[in-house]
This record gives sequence, C-alpha cells and structure tokens, in this order.
Amino acid sequence: MILITGGAGYIGSHVVKEIAASGYDVMILDNLSTGNRKAVEVIINLLADLSGAGKTYLTVGDCGDQLLLDQICQQHPIEAAIHLAAFSEVGESMQDAAKYFTNNTAQTILLLNSLRRHQVDKLVFSSTAAVYGQPLQNPILEDHPLQPTNVYGLSKMMIESMLPRYRVNYGLNYISLRYFNAAGADASGLIGEKHRQESHLIPLVILRAMGKRDRFTIFGDDYDTPDGTCLRDYIHVSDLAQAHLLALQALLAGTMQERVYNLGNGQPHSVREVITAVEHCCGQTLPYDIGPRRSGDPSILLASSQRAREELNWKPRYPCLQDIVDSAWRWHNSENW
Ligand code: UFG
Repeated sequence: MILITGGAGYIGSHVVKEIAASGYDVMILDNLSTGNRKAVEVIINLLADLSGAGKTYLTVGDCGDQLLLDQICQQHPIEAAIHLAAFSEVGESMQDAAKYFTNNTAQTILLLNSLRRHQVDKLVFSSTAAVYGQPLQNPILEDHPLQPTNVYGLSKMMIESMLPRYRVNYGLNYISLRYFNAAGADASGLIGEKHRQESHLIPLVILRAMGKRDRFTIFGDDYDTPDGTCLRDYIHVSDLAQAHLLALQALLAGTMQERVYNLGNGQPHSVREVITAVEHCCGQTLPYDIGPRRSGDPSILLASSQRAREELNWKPRYPCLQDIVDSAWRWHNSENW
C-alpha cells in the first residue's frame, strides 16, 4: 500500500487516480484544509469498474500527527509514501510565513520521522520550481542554484536540503519532483482544479470567461518577453501524476535511491497566449486589464525536464497548451462539486 499525503487536493487527487489505476492500494492522508473529500469519492467511483485497479482509502488528519501515522503504519503494509500535503500560495506565504514553515516544513519533518520509525524507506516528495527563485538561465537544469524568492519555495527547499541527511543517516530513498506550472484536469472531467481562493492564471481566466468573475488583470506587460507578459512552463496535471508513478516505481524497483527531477514541458507560454487559448474555448474575445507587476514574479520560468525524460522515461501526454486549457475548460464547465 502507498501512503499519499495531500491526496484530496488538486494535484494529489490526480496522483491518487494514477497510482490506484496502476494497481496499487492507496491510503490517502489529508486534513481536508485545502483538499476535498468529494474528489476522493469521485476517484473511488471512477476506479470501481476498472479491472486491476487498487483500492483507495481516506484517513482525515495531519501528516505530522505521529500517533495517527503509527496507527496507519501498524494497520497497513505501507511500502512507500508520496508526500504532497502542503500549502502552495506564493502570495500568502509572504504574508504568513509561520503558516508555511509550520505546515510545509515542520509537519514534513514529523512525517519523515514517522516513516523512519516504521521502516518506510521510500519517498516521493512534492517540490516546486519556486525553489530556484529568479533563474540565472532558462531552461533551468536541476543543478541550478536554489535561491527561492518566496517563503513557499523556501519551505520546500528546507526539506529538500534535509533529505540527503535522511538518506545518509537512515537509508531513506527519495525522489524530489519540482513542478513548474501545474494546470489542466483529468480526461474524465470529474476531478480538477478547485481552490477556495483562486490565484492561478488558467482558472482565473476561465472563470472570467464563464462570467463568474468581473475582471481579469494581467500582472505587468512590460517584461522583456515577446509580448511583454511573463512566460511560464505549463504542465498538465495528469502528466505530473504520471511522473509520480514512474518515480514510485523506480524507488520500489530499487533502480533509484536519491534524485531530483524538474517537471515541465520546456515550452514557454505568455499570459496573453493563455488568454487566447481560453478565448478559443469560449469563442469570444475576453476583456482584461493591465495592472502592475506582481512582486516576486520572474519574467521567464522554463524547465529542462531532460533528466526525467531520460531516466524515468517520462513522456508528457498533453504537452500542447491548448489541450491543457481545453481540459481545464471542460472541468470548469462540468457539473463539479
Ligand atoms: N497572472 C496574471 N494575473 C493573474 C494571475 C496570474 O497576470 O490574475 C500571471 C502571473 O503574473 C504569472 C502567470 O500569470 O506571470 C502565472 O501565474 P500563476 O499564479 O498561475 O503561477 P506562478 O507562475 O506564479 O506560480 C506557479 C505555482 C507556484 C509555483 C510556481 C513555480 O502557483 O506554486 O508556479 O513555477 F511555485
């Protein structure tokens, strides 16, 4: 059985679906502070008829709750953990650093210690491109210096910097996955991105197109980029999920003990290109405002994912921005929870 923390969240729910569909039993541990019980119910229903799928269970609680972890590990044969539970709002992390250091860093240390106590020695860790900060060059390779410019990135970098010691001292085998801009939704249209407070580009533009928001503002059009807006590397959430499966399998097979991978498509897309892609979905021109730059936004963030492609044999299935946006559009327009 695989323990997946944060499995009721946006990325987590797609990871759970991928792992369980591949035949692994999954124990989700999620405190539902940002995750959604309904996402788990949908996955369980979706996989009920899929032959060979593993079983999915949900435990509600904190990943740093050591007594709860003791119970889970005593009652279930946990082979490996995928740790996604975290807060991930860059802006919020700059206003409330303690929230991020406590949840993302301190709780993770407690989780690592629980895993160690129960001899769970395989971990896939959810990290972020935010660990790099302002890139010195693009595309970014994994050995680029880590100089996060926000507390969210720092809270993840601190864990990344501890993992090698857990390997040396306690034999923890781990793979850290640094996501670039996760977007899109599962092909079923039944799970997708839903945040209580939305701050991400693609859902915001879609909600504007659906008339659920009055305005949309581009944060700066005076960057040194072809159309003046920031360039990002959007990666379909189902492709991220596939990378988690491959990382897990590499750890379980013992072919990988300690590695970090970027996950992106290596294709730069501007904010204006994203708006155009949403316009294709809704068939109308979208009005928007131009506002000032958002503090801490690098002009370009682009991944080199060569390493994941070569070593994990990762092949993104939805590299085209329009396909990513189409899937998000379908999700937002479906009867969702
Ligand atoms: N943007 C706007 N207007 C908005 C919202 C966003 O113009 O209302 C722009 C941003 O300035 C940025 C781009 O759209 O240029 C993408 O912004 P997002 O907020 O969607 O994503 P970020 O690139 O800021 O951050 C994302 C994740 C982080 C992660 C980071 C790593 O949200 O968790 O990618 O690359 F750390």
